[in-house]
Amino acid sequence: MARSANVTRRGFITSVMAFAGSVMGVVVGLPVIGYLISPALNAKKSDAWIPAGKLDTYPLGVPTSFSFTRTQVNGWEKTVNSFSVYVLRDASNQVKVFSSICTHLGCRVSFHKSSEEYICPCHDAHFNINGGVVSGPPPRPLNQYESKVDNGNLMIHVIEA
Ligand code: FES
Repeated sequence: MARSANVTRRGFITSVMAFAGSVMGVVVGLPVIGYLISPALNAKKSDAWIPAGKLDTYPLGVPTSFSFTRTQVNGWEKTVNSFSVYVLRDASNQVKVFSSICTHLGCRVSFHKSSEEYICPCHDAHFNINGGVVSGPPPRPLNQYESKVDNGNLMIHVIEA
């Protein structure tokens, strides 16, 4: 009996078993993969009002640093972000809250009382007391956070991506 190019019985069964194994792998594997990655796919922005203490503890006309951290759980990942802001209160209790992150490349600015400016050490940028660019490469003023006063307590609105 001459061998033909046709598939042998053993080869046929091997192919069927391999195909069935692949199908079962996909049927079982896809839901497992979906379960594992779905929290990351469902990540969304979160926001919160951060209590920043009594408003009257902030001096008038002097930007005062306030720092806090936020823990964000994103799927299986847990991230702790630290924030640093400057709170500026005027005589009529109007409040501005500035980010301390330079709008050029993200270094932290610090307020210098002598010049009444926020200065970024990275590329020597200067911002005025209201966050406007005085000199240096930043393309825009310091970012501001929304804030409100609730029963004398300052609250800062933070939005995280
Ligand atoms: S990062 Fe602030 S001036 Fe460049």
